[in-house]
Amino acid sequence: MRSDPNLIAGLEGFEDAGVYKISDDLALILTLDFFTPIVDDPYIFGQIAAVNALSDVYAMGGKPLTAMNIICFPTKKLDMSVLHDILLGGLEKIHEAGVTLVGGHSVEDDEPKYGLSVTGIIHPKKVLRNNSAWPGDKLILTKAIGTGIVSTALKGGEAPEKLLRRSIRTMTTLNRQAADLMVETPGVHACTDITGFGFLGHACEMIEGSEIGLRIFSSAVPVFEGIRDIIDEGFLPGGLYRNKNFRMPMIEVKKNVPDWLLDLLFDPQTSGGLLISIDAKEADGLLMRLKDAGVEDAAIVGDVTDELRAKIVVE
Ligand code: CO
Ligand code: CO
Repeated sequence: MRSDPNLIAGLEGFEDAGVYKISDDLALILTLDFFTPIVDDPYIFGQIAAVNALSDVYAMGGKPLTAMNIICFPTKKLDMSVLHDILLGGLEKIHEAGVTLVGGHSVEDDEPKYGLSVTGIIHPKKVLRNNSAWPGDKLILTKAIGTGIVSTALKGGEAPEKLLRRSIRTMTTLNRQAADLMVETPGVHACTDITGFGFLGHACEMIEGSEIGLRIFSSAVPVFEGIRDIIDEGFLPGGLYRNKNFRMPMIEVKKNVPDWLLDLLFDPQTSGGLLISIDAKEADGLLMRLKDAGVEDAAIVGDVTDELRAKIVVE
């Protein structure tokens, strides 16, 4: 492949977005994300898809500026009001993020799909990669997990109303507030957002091939209240098993960690939170500011150590 000295983050590694340097103090962040509906309400689906697409810019430490709609829609099967509602939900979140919609493209397709291509900006020296954690850092997670399991239960017609509302509230919350506080805090060394590979899958990306490892305090990871019941009922998404099979070779699990919780740590998330690696002496301060600002689920969920090499111990 052609190498380009201005490409700061690209296809190599597991970065959340591409980053392209324009000048010594300006780089573009470029990202694209779209998917099929995971909730019944088209407006809420639009909100979730937009929040999810914007998240990768936040995860790089950047500021999103513009967005373009990507739409697949079966105009012969579904009423156009459904499309209208999807776009309206997306637009609400685009505006909440302070982002300008500049265009988009739609195609006829059997199944609706929606998402955004987002462009953001960042100082080239302030790009937050996901594989640049330092030994001694603490890990902060900003949203509770369980959205994949709740969506699976919903498809099976078995999602308790309260859990569904909780999951939707999480998926429709922008990572903007968390990201704003993160970039104002010194000592942040790495960041990613939790999406399809699950909490542990994305944690693995942080340390794969490196000289450091992570310790995860499983009981400190924020989870949806009541999620255990639907795990026990067997509503586990296929992606959860794929994530687990793929990453277990890098992971050691202590005996005290219950099976349901380990499974949950691999649950593929939609529009999940940020996972931030930050200097231990700044971690409590950032956590307090996150809580004060309404990022209520934020928690310190582990730390970074050079006593492990490219491994994660879940305890
Ligand atoms: Co991401
Ligand atoms: Co993405």
